Amino acid sequence: MLQALRANSLFDGVDLQALARQVDTPFYAYSASAIRQRIGALQSAMQGLDTRLCFAVKANSNLAVLQLMAQCGTGADIVSIGEFRRALRAGIPADRMVFSGVGKTHDEIAETLMAGVWKFNVESYDELQLLQRIASEQSITAHAAVRINPDVDAGTHEKISTGKSENKFGVSIDEARTWFAGHADFPNVRLDGLHAHIGSQILSVAPFRLALQRVAAFWRELVAAGHNLASIDVGGGLGVCYRSGVDQPVPTEDYAAVIRAAFADFDGVLVLEPGRWLVAEAGVLMTRVIRVKPGAGRQFLVVDAAMNDLQRPALYDAWHEIVPLHDEVRPTTCYDVVGPVCETGDTFAVDRAMPACVSGDLLMIAGVGAYGASMASTYNSRPLTAEVLLDNGRYAVVRRRQSFEEMVAGEQLPHAWHTA
Ligand code: LLP
Repeated sequence: MLQALRANSLFDGVDLQALARQVDTPFYAYSASAIRQRIGALQSAMQGLDTRLCFAVKANSNLAVLQLMAQCGTGADIVSIGEFRRALRAGIPADRMVFSGVGKTHDEIAETLMAGVWKFNVESYDELQLLQRIASEQSITAHAAVRINPDVDAGTHEKISTGKSENKFGVSIDEARTWFAGHADFPNVRLDGLHAHIGSQILSVAPFRLALQRVAAFWRELVAAGHNLASIDVGGGLGVCYRSGVDQPVPTEDYAAVIRAAFADFDGVLVLEPGRWLVAEAGVLMTRVIRVKPGAGRQFLVVDAAMNDLQRPALYDAWHEIVPLHDEVRPTTCYDVVGPVCETGDTFAVDRAMPACVSGDLLMIAGVGAYGASMASTYNSRPLTAEVLLDNGRYAVVRRRQSFEEMVAGEQLPHAWHTA
């Protein structure tokens, strides 16, 4: 898709240069066609298995993107009441949602349980007890899966690694075993699922295989002990190609083969929680060069997007392709591409070779459809950026740029002082 873009600036049939004359930069643009295509590809790789895709809302929580997910029949993996309400508003039914996370609160559990969330991915004994108490108060039965921490190194960035024993996520198989043995203590919780998610941007099939083999062995042990499982959730984590020639994503067929090998004879539902893989490569961040600033032994390309709009480079040293979208041929130059925020970490690329740029040029930062806008902040009092959905030659602004008044709306000067 990037090659085609370089040639004619068309992204999902929309001319990005023309679009950037209609919508002020910076803005995110997402290709609906690319997202649909990814959903279809994953579904066909899983053909023959009874699977349910639950999109990890945290990857891209724009209502229009979630509505697209709903239209394509995916459910949602949610981790907060805010994500739950977004998914519901976008048309994803509660009974297609799984609720993950180590810090679910009483109120979050009460609201989602009442609304009929399909499955709680329970991550601690304390949470299991709370779920029992709330379900009993509501006189209903909650459906729960135990999130297993399989103690597997996903081989990814340590900040997005979740399946090692020292990580805060899930419980050991030993602990999970005692939960199943003591299930009678939880009459309002039907503990009938397993869940594992070992990390994100995983580029090798081996950690998936190892984790799922451990989950599968435990499932067989549970069956032998007389427990019936209705679902096994294999999490998300499939990596994408941020840097061509360097990142080599796991082919979906290989991923599916690992799932098939572990669970071919499982007669329940297999849940997948993909986030990044469905949306990352479907999103670009459009930004303009404010100025070119000479530095000590380097040239800074100061652009109008910043780390508050896209945190990944600052947070994980993530590499994103940056493509200038001008028409003429220009000599190659090396730049440090930086934003206006007052931190040295506000750097999108260091010493990056690209066609020479001048003030006003349009740049596209690629691979930002996942964990881009959803992680944005208003740091440096920069309003949240606009988001645009593209679909086969047409576009719709699906989030207008936040106004200054909206940015400060919740703040007030201390007119009244109270004592606690
Ligand atoms: N399921 C659970 C329980 C998760 O915690 C996550 C992501 C997913 C599914 C989706 O994983 P994915 O398919 O997207 O890899 N902000 C980081 C990524 C954080 C991922 C957090 N959990 C980044 O920009 O790389």
